[in-house]
Amino acid sequence: MFDRLPEIAAAFDRRERIVVFPGDCLEFLRGIPDETFQLVVTSPPYNLGKEYEKRIHLEHYVEQQREVIRECVRVTKATGSVCWEVGNYVDNGAIVPLDALLFPIFQDLKLRCRNRIVWHFEHGLHCTRRFSGRYESILWFTKSEDYFFDLDAVRVPQKYPGKKHFKGPRAGQYSCNPLGKNPGDVWIIPNVKSNHVEKTEHPCQFPVELIERLVLTLTREDDWVLDPFLGTGTSIIAALRHDRRGAGAETHSRYVEIARSRIHQALQGTLPVRPMNRPVFNPRDAGRALTSAPWLKQGELDGVLALGEKQTPYGAKK
Ligand SMILES: C[S@@+](CC[C@H](N)C(=O)[O-])C[C@H]1O[C@@H](n2cnc3c(N)ncnc32)[C@H](O)[C@@H]1O
Repeated sequence: MFDRLPEIAAAFDRRERIVVFPGDCLEFLRGIPDETFQLVVTSPPYNLGKEYEKRIHLEHYVEQQREVIRECVRVTKATGSVCWEVGNYVDNGAIVPLDALLFPIFQDLKLRCRNRIVWHFEHGLHCTRRFSGRYESILWFTKSEDYFFDLDAVRVPQKYPGKKHFKGPRAGQYSCNPLGKNPGDVWIIPNVKSNHVEKTEHPCQFPVELIERLVLTLTREDDWVLDPFLGTGTSIIAALRHDRRGAGAETHSRYVEIARSRIHQALQGTLPVRPMNRPVFNPRDAGRALTSAPWLKQGELDGVLALGEKQTPYGAKK
């Protein structure tokens, strides 16, 4: 791919391939010409008081986000996309979905929302007074109607690829697209928790495969991808794995160090990455220990699994 591994620059220049700016994203963005990036993709701080952020009044948080989003839109190409990945702000057990809170900012900037992608995962905090949160969302916006979108790059296998048209002029021909089907807007991808191969000491990394799907659909080779809240470098890694260019800013020096080290490993082909489209691990199917409840006898377990299927006729007394 390269005669020599590319350097990691600390300041933006279009001739570079990789830029990690160790500092504030607004400072970084202000030095970047209009319409530079094909894709801006990020997961900003959620104002939860994590080790890399100070909890501030929600209105102030939204104003800070507005400033960053405005700059991100300015540096996005006319055919480009902006993807904002967020979860909930939580205050004393009450949640505020951040995508709902931030959506008007994008609307004010005249962006068009193409999808609200639900990223579903299975691990996280166990709540006791509400349902445990098991998804976050990605708001995908485009700057214009003339946006780049390569669906074929990310199609997934059909359930019934052998199905044929049974009548009409195409009777007997396969009815599905041989390249696979549209993956839809609910993406089931494991989050990066303790035993995930990509886990670092950062508390909120997103998985490389989540960003790879966006990179493949929304950019071409050699295009620039930007993550203003870079963390451990995931977005740049996803970009480089598909011969795109990547840039990002990160204020926390330890995360800058981790991002640089992961990018080096990615360039050398030694970074552990969970492959795209690998099915989610199911410990029961894999025959793992501890997957059946010791307090149930064999047979009772089947009863428990079938509980959801039992129906009581409406109005019937038990
Ligand atoms: C939710 S994390 C992003 C993690 C990243 N997606 C990854 O996979 O590692 C948000 C990151 O933004 C960084 N950050 C917070 N404020 C920033 C700012 N003003 N400029 C640049 N980075 C900032 C934090 O230190 C944190 O690492």
